[in-house]
Amino acid sequence: MLPAYFLIFIIYYPAVAIPQASSWFPSLSEHLWPSRSLYVASGNSINYNPNGSSFLWLPQDSYSGQTFFDLWDFFTGADPTNGQVNYVNETVARQTGLVYVQDNGIVIMKADNTTSLASGVYRNSVRISSQAQYNTGLFILDLNRAPWGCAVWPAFWTVGGNWPYDGEVDIIEGVHDNEHNQVAWHTAPGCTLDTTANFTGTISSSDGVNHTDCNAFINSNSGCGMTEWSRASYGPYFDSQGGGVFAMKWDENSIAIWSFYRVAIPKDVIAGTPNPSGWGAPSAVLEPSDCNLGQLFANHSIVFDITLCGDWAGNSYATSGCPGTCEQRLMDPANFQNASWSINSLKVYRKVLLSARVTNSVTSKLTMEFTTLYLMILLGGLLL
Ligand SMILES: *[C@@H]1O[C@H](CO)[C@@H](O)[C@H](O)[C@H]1NC(C)=O
Ligand SMILES: *[C@@H]1O[C@H](CO)[C@@H](O)[C@H](O)[C@H]1NC(C)=O
Ligand SMILES: *[C@@H]1O[C@H](CO)[C@@H](O)[C@H](O)[C@H]1NC(C)=O
Ligand SMILES: *[C@@H]1O[C@H](CO)[C@@H](O)[C@H](O)[C@H]1NC(C)=O
Ligand SMILES: *[C@@H]1O[C@H](CO)[C@@H](O)[C@H](O)[C@H]1NC(C)=O
Ligand SMILES: *[C@@H]1O[C@H](CO)[C@@H](O)[C@H](O)[C@H]1NC(C)=O
Ligand SMILES: *[C@@H]1O[C@H](CO)[C@@H](O)[C@H](O)[C@H]1NC(C)=O
Repeated sequence: MLPAYFLIFIIYYPAVAIPQASSWFPSLSEHLWPSRSLYVASGNSINYNPNGSSFLWLPQDSYSGQTFFDLWDFFTGADPTNGQVNYVNETVARQTGLVYVQDNGIVIMKADNTTSLASGVYRNSVRISSQAQYNTGLFILDLNRAPWGCAVWPAFWTVGGNWPYDGEVDIIEGVHDNEHNQVAWHTAPGCTLDTTANFTGTISSSDGVNHTDCNAFINSNSGCGMTEWSRASYGPYFDSQGGGVFAMKWDENSIAIWSFYRVAIPKDVIAGTPNPSGWGAPSAVLEPSDCNLGQLFANHSIVFDITLCGDWAGNSYATSGCPGTCEQRLMDPANFQNASWSINSLKVYRKVLLSARVTNSVTSKLTMEFTTLYLMILLGGLLL
């Protein structure tokens, strides 16, 4: 009997520890209170830093449904990546149906797929940036479709205001009818990928050069990056199997990206209590070993865009297997049938340390451990 009871207490140890921590340290209570019962019930949302301190990813911002577009700015300048698009403002985007929210809450953003254009005329499209800025976080995008097709070059990314000194993280990016998502980072000089890190993708390369140096000033700004192994991480198969979830975790320990098919989205993600430590190796990761993350990434907005032709889709068009030229491709709206984002939600979580104060002193950490042990023995004894 005795070992069985102890086993139960050991399993529930995290659930016992959280309310204790919050009542000992009132400053954490406000964060924990609204969803405390959820965390206690699931018990598996506690994450650990390499130094053993524990933390939770707690909800910070949620972008979804009818209010989605209230929290973004529409970019209306010339495309910095030389795409042949007119980025329109919110009024025009709404009036011409480039952005809208369906009655079921699904958010749509698209390039114009209804207007026939004369040769050389740019096509209308959208590029939006979050008003909120972030300096770490766990970003979870649930989408049904990402844009693709000949001449199309979409991206979902985060970027700081002083490019490239504040860094850039490209979470979803591809061109034409590619099938493999390309994750990339662009930074100031002095940041490289750790190729021995644990990730499932392959190092991206072009013209025989591996993209391991994130320096935006070399290699025509290829940055550093990893290409996902799955043929359904971008393009036709990603869309046809119902999309899925992309997650980007940015903290002092790494910047890591995961993607999940719709049928394989982890339960903790669906429950809103994400715990990346249970997701397996990421598709792509930038480790602090060869990159000063704290110095090179700051004040990021989240960006969605759909550009056409330009530095990547234009320059690669001739070798892509797509018909004609990129300029010709722009003219017929039917070519942009699949150039749309369909988004269920974007949720941002922030890291809240549980044991920050406890670990300030070894003594108080030990006090907490012994108190818990004492409770276990006491309760175990009572039950016997
Ligand atoms: C442990 O690491 C986290 C970040 O990973 C940091 O915030 C915390 O202060 C560290 N704790 C100690 C005791 O070093
Ligand atoms: C949006 O763009 C249109 C077309 O360029 C312009 O006429 C209109 O004034 C703009 N609206 C706002 C609110 O900026
Ligand atoms: C590029 O990386 C691959 C492994 O991902 C390696 O086999 C190859 O030698 C590298 N090429 C260069 C030029 O470093
Ligand atoms: C890589 O990650 C997987 C999944 O988290 C883990 O099982 C494996 O031990 C890790 N390998 C290394 C070398 O860290
Ligand atoms: C980030 O933004 C804050 C507030 O606007 C500012 O004080 C800080 O200097 C910025 N940091 C960087 C590295 O740009
Ligand atoms: C759009 O996607 C459908 C379904 O995969 C495909 O049959 C069609 O050719 C695509 N259209 C374009 C213009 O790429
Ligand atoms: C244009 O895109 C929207 C959003 O994806 C889609 O519902 C519609 O069917 C498309 N229209 C054409 C003509 O491709």
